[in-house]
Amino acid sequence: MTTHLLKQRLLFGSISVLSLVALSFAFTQPPVQASSAAQAPAPATDASAAKQGEALFQQSCAFCHGRDAMGGETGPDLTRSKLVLGDKTGDQIMAVIHEGRIEKKMPPFPFAPPELRSLVAFIRARVVVADSEKGGRRGVDVADLQTGNVEQGKKFFDGPGTCSKCHSPAGDLAGIASRHKGLELEMRMLYPRDARSKVSVTMSTGKSITGTLAYLDEFTVGLRDAEGIYHSWSIENVKYKVDSPVDAHVEMFPKYTDDDIHNLMAYLQTLR
Ligand code: HEC
Ligand code: HEC
Repeated sequence: MTTHLLKQRLLFGSISVLSLVALSFAFTQPPVQASSAAQAPAPATDASAAKQGEALFQQSCAFCHGRDAMGGETGPDLTRSKLVLGDKTGDQIMAVIHEGRIEKKMPPFPFAPPELRSLVAFIRARVVVADSEKGGRRGVDVADLQTGNVEQGKKFFDGPGTCSKCHSPAGDLAGIASRHKGLELEMRMLYPRDARSKVSVTMSTGKSITGTLAYLDEFTVGLRDAEGIYHSWSIENVKYKVDSPVDAHVEMFPKYTDDDIHNLMAYLQTLR
């Protein structure tokens, strides 16, 4: 995995909170006029990107995908979309918006890159909101929880290079179905969020220090060492390497079929 991709991912994590602030603000404001959104300059920050994206989304997308991006009569719930959740860089989401899927009734939108990015920022902010709405998720796919085949799920789990590489049903996942129920379990399986990335930073002197990644943007890398002390460096002065344990999940995501997910869910629900 390249540093670039990792940065994107980390940025996504930290921005989401900002975006939420921006969104809660945006939702209390009267809707932005369509024309101002379309002509808006490149977003300066990602919080403002999500806000611009919101305006654009309400104008161009909401009547199919719903105001909250959670699905409408003629467009799917984007907060549960495998494509959206698995797209680390935003490139796939932007491609769908730009090219459309005409045969499936998703029209193309010839937006400029900053506008596309603002839509991605908005959709991602909506994913975070949707995940935090406990039990209130619309479009709950009850089928995922009920129609799977336990045997097939176990087979997939034990398969070479898949889940059993990192997990054990008698170890870390023992009792997982008692700790997390239904859709929450499914979201944890598909996109675990709690795991902390490690980073090791090597200074120009050759000295290196490893810890939990605490900050990363274009200019600065920061970590917390074993004592919990925060250190940070200007990126141009050091080399650093990030190890993000959940990348495997995100990378597997586009490879699952719906049946795989149903089966895995059926199997995980036996781990009580
Ligand atoms: C006329 C209705 C309509 C409009 C307007 C519309 N979409 Fe869609 N969109 C769809 C449909 C239908 C699909 C599902 C296509 C398919 O099944 O492959 C879709 C799919 C998508 C997907 C891919 C989801 C996935 O899981 O594959 C994204 C992302 C998306 N739309 C974003 C947008 C954005 C952003 C806008 C506004 C700029 C927008 N759409 C406007 C109908 C619409
Ligand atoms: C390369 C290692 C790796 C692979 C492969 C992997 N996972 Fe994970 N998984 C993780 C890490 C790391 C976490 C985060 C652990 C945490 O948050 O405590 C995690 C979290 C989870 C969780 C949430 C656990 C919790 O307590 O919230 C579930 C469920 C899960 N994985 C299921 C699976 C399934 C099913 C597969 C196979 C389809 C799989 N994982 C493949 C590393 C992996």
